[in-house]
Amino acid sequence: MKNSLTSFVPELENNIHSSGMAIIEKSNKIELVKESEEIMEEFSGNSDVEFFDVQNRAIVPGFIDTHTHLLWSGDRSNEIRHRLEGKSYAEIENMGGGITHTTFETRKATTDDLNELGYVRLRNALSHGTTHIEAKSGYGLDCETELKLLQCADMLSKQSHLPTIEHTWLGAHSFPKEMSKNEYVEHLVHEQLPAVIEQGIAHSADVFCEPGWFSVEQSEDILRAAKSQGLRLRMHIDEFQISGGAELAADLNVDTADHAYHTPLDSRMLMKQASVNTGFLPAAPYVLGQDFHDYSESIEHEIPFTLATDFNPNCQFLSIPMIGSFAVQRSKLHPLQGLKCVTTQAAKFSKLPRELDDGSIREGNTATFNILHSSNWENWCQTPGTSPIHSTCLNGNHIIH
Ligand code: NIG
Ligand code: FE
Repeated sequence: MKNSLTSFVPELENNIHSSGMAIIEKSNKIELVKESEEIMEEFSGNSDVEFFDVQNRAIVPGFIDTHTHLLWSGDRSNEIRHRLEGKSYAEIENMGGGITHTTFETRKATTDDLNELGYVRLRNALSHGTTHIEAKSGYGLDCETELKLLQCADMLSKQSHLPTIEHTWLGAHSFPKEMSKNEYVEHLVHEQLPAVIEQGIAHSADVFCEPGWFSVEQSEDILRAAKSQGLRLRMHIDEFQISGGAELAADLNVDTADHAYHTPLDSRMLMKQASVNTGFLPAAPYVLGQDFHDYSESIEHEIPFTLATDFNPNCQFLSIPMIGSFAVQRSKLHPLQGLKCVTTQAAKFSKLPRELDDGSIREGNTATFNILHSSNWENWCQTPGTSPIHSTCLNGNHIIH
């Protein structure tokens, strides 16, 4: 049983406690959240209680990163030269770069290589406060490598002192060179999906629905097949162009439709009606040299949305606080709204280890939270270039970064 004296945002509502709160933790669960004076009165002198004074540092919930391409091998930093010459993301892919190049490198990587890369990335994410992370496959584009990527993520998810992981099959990330597009869609539905189901690791399926990649019709075929096999659904939509992906997302009631960079307001409203989360990924426009998202319409119309990193070879962010900085310091999102995006809103469709956890710090939740260096909780998103996280309580284990 531990007691932390601190200031923190208990349930992320308007009742922000600015100081003097304490958390009692027992058997990896939050047992009690109360004024520290009351806790001291009740427990001081109790030899079963170990006190841990966080010295007035702020505490915020563990961050949930709802969109990452965690496992891949290779390096694409040379592509910046093409981009500066004016080549688009699609043109670079068609020249053999992009996802095609990473797939080539990832197919060559061994399980040990990928595990090592994944371990370092997950430690990095944890040091920035991420305690739960979604990890997509998608750089295999064949049965063997897609299964290998899911299996590596699963092996990493069994290690302690790392964020918990949920697994997404993204076989429909791009088209491999060895077959035609239609053949690949057939392969996805009739070979890859059954193999993924038999392997039993994936929780969700995702599709890169975008002109030039998977059309709305192809996406629908793949997603319906995945749904019929019991997988939850996610989508990449409207990253470069409006495509009708949002309407499909609403139709299929997917959990989250991400990027949504060009998604018009009425389509986002439609997604809201279908309980589809809008997942904004501000690091993508950042690396592509585009303007950041404008969140004001979504806020005005109470459209629920998350923020996530989109970690991938072209966008090497694993820091949720950096994403928060983009949204708060550059796009005028309120820091509490931003914090909800990466905690309670993200928890609504994430497969957290304990079903009842809601991404906040409250009695009954797993004892997972972040202790900041600062005594102000708003600091979580205002230290770009460095991590604001002093330490993390991960499932009851206190890890100092
Ligand atoms: O979400 N756009 C599709 N997939 C990734 C990028 C993958 C890559 O460039 O390797 C994304 O941004
Ligand atoms: Fe992505």
